[in-house]
Amino acid sequence: MTIQLESIQNLDQLFDRAFSILEEQKNNGAKTFGLATGGTMLPLYERIRNSSLDFSNCKSVNLDEYVGLPKKHQQSYISFMQKQLFNTKSFEESYLPNGEAENPEMEAVNYENILKSLDLDFQLLGVGENGHIGFNEPGSSFSSETHVVTLTESTRQANARFFESIDEVPKHAITMGIASIMRAHQILLIAVGEKKRDAIQALIDGEMTEEIPVTVLKGHDNVIILTNLNL
Ligand code: GLP
Repeated sequence: MTIQLESIQNLDQLFDRAFSILEEQKNNGAKTFGLATGGTMLPLYERIRNSSLDFSNCKSVNLDEYVGLPKKHQQSYISFMQKQLFNTKSFEESYLPNGEAENPEMEAVNYENILKSLDLDFQLLGVGENGHIGFNEPGSSFSSETHVVTLTESTRQANARFFESIDEVPKHAITMGIASIMRAHQILLIAVGEKKRDAIQALIDGEMTEEIPVTVLKGHDNVIILTNLNL
C-alpha cells in the first residue's frame, strides 16, 4: 500500500494543496476525472471555478446519485455539480448516474459499462461518518461494481441537513462500487472535521474490513489523504 497522509490544520492551505494535486494531475495529462459531492468538496470546487484550468478535452464521472430525486431538485447530485462546477467549467463529457431512470438496476449496469470504457486517471473522494465512500455503506463488498443501495439511517440523518426534513432524504442511491472506485490510478481522499476521525483512524491504523468501506484504500497503491485532523 502507498498511502500518503498529509495533515494540514489550516483549511485554506488544505484546499490549496488539494487544488494543486488536481492541477498537477491535469498538467501531467490526466483526461478522466472522478468527481465527488458533499460539503467537504465545496472549497475545492470554488478554487477550480476561479482557476484557469481548462477541462474541455477531459471527461468527468461522478460517484453517485440519489434515486428518485428529480434532477432539478437542488439536492440532486447533478444539480450540485452543475452549480459547483459544470456551469463554469465544462467537460467534453460529464457522466452521473441517472437517478430518475425507470429501472435503476439497469441504469447501474449501464453506468458501470461507461466507467469500464474509460480509464479513470484520478478519483476525488470524501468519506461518510460511518466510513462510506460514494454511497457504499458498511458491509458493501470490496468487489462491488456500480449498484443500487439502500441508504443507512445514519447516512440519511447526516445528509438531512441539506433537506427541509429527514422525510425528504431519498432512501436509495446509485453508486459506483468499491471495485469501480479502486480502478482509478490515483485517489485523493479529503476528510475534514472530528466526525471523520474514526473513519480516517481506521484507514490508517486499522485492518482492512468491509465493515468500514474506506479501509479498502489500504489495498490501493496511490492514495493521498488530506485531513485537518491531528492523527
Ligand atoms: C455523501 C456522499 C459521499 C460524501 C459523503 C460525505 O454521503 N455520497 O460521496 O463523501 O456524503 O459528505 P460531506 O462532505 O458533506 O461530509
